[in-house]
Amino acid sequence: MLNIAVFVSGNGSNLENILAANIANCQIKLVVSSNKKAYALVRAANHGIDTMILDNEFDESSLLKDLAARKITLIVLAGFMKILNSSFIENFNGQIINIHPSLLPAYGGQGMYGLKVHEAVLKAGDKYSGATVHQVTSIVDGGEIIEQIKVPVFPADTPQSLQRRIQEDGEKILLPAVIKKMCERSLSK
Ligand code: GRF
Repeated sequence: MLNIAVFVSGNGSNLENILAANIANCQIKLVVSSNKKAYALVRAANHGIDTMILDNEFDESSLLKDLAARKITLIVLAGFMKILNSSFIENFNGQIINIHPSLLPAYGGQGMYGLKVHEAVLKAGDKYSGATVHQVTSIVDGGEIIEQIKVPVFPADTPQSLQRRIQEDGEKILLPAVIKKMCERSLSK
């Protein structure tokens, strides 16, 4: 059984996608938000999932204690806008993953988030973009790539339409699929 904490800051469509996938042997135990107004918190409450809000100067060691108390074994960053520091990341030993809305290593790194990613893809005239799930390390968007999904870019795309397509045709499939595999693997250990 994987006990998951999903870290969010905004809408929470990825959180909803994981829940909708009804993955066996995986349970979302906690939703942690860096933004008290995140719609993801409403989604969590609708599903009866415990939530926690991080303030700007959150205490890393007390967060680690909370996660340990809930026996969290996987952290999923899904639109989480804070950068975790390296000691926190080391504590989870490769068990933190992130979803990024491009085909990394392209269009990643600090400052590449939200519509900025899609604006850059359109500016470059790329025919494909997509989404990536990767391990989280202290290099922003630089951890080992776990899996990617390609999504076409169309000539009439705006950053918004491309973002929507990547979320609907990319992220919605990719993140639950990766988590499902991790859950299956955790059973065979
Ligand atoms: C997604 O596009 C994800 O790839 C990126 O931030 C967005 C979060 O969306 N890291 P949501 O909050 O899950 O709807």
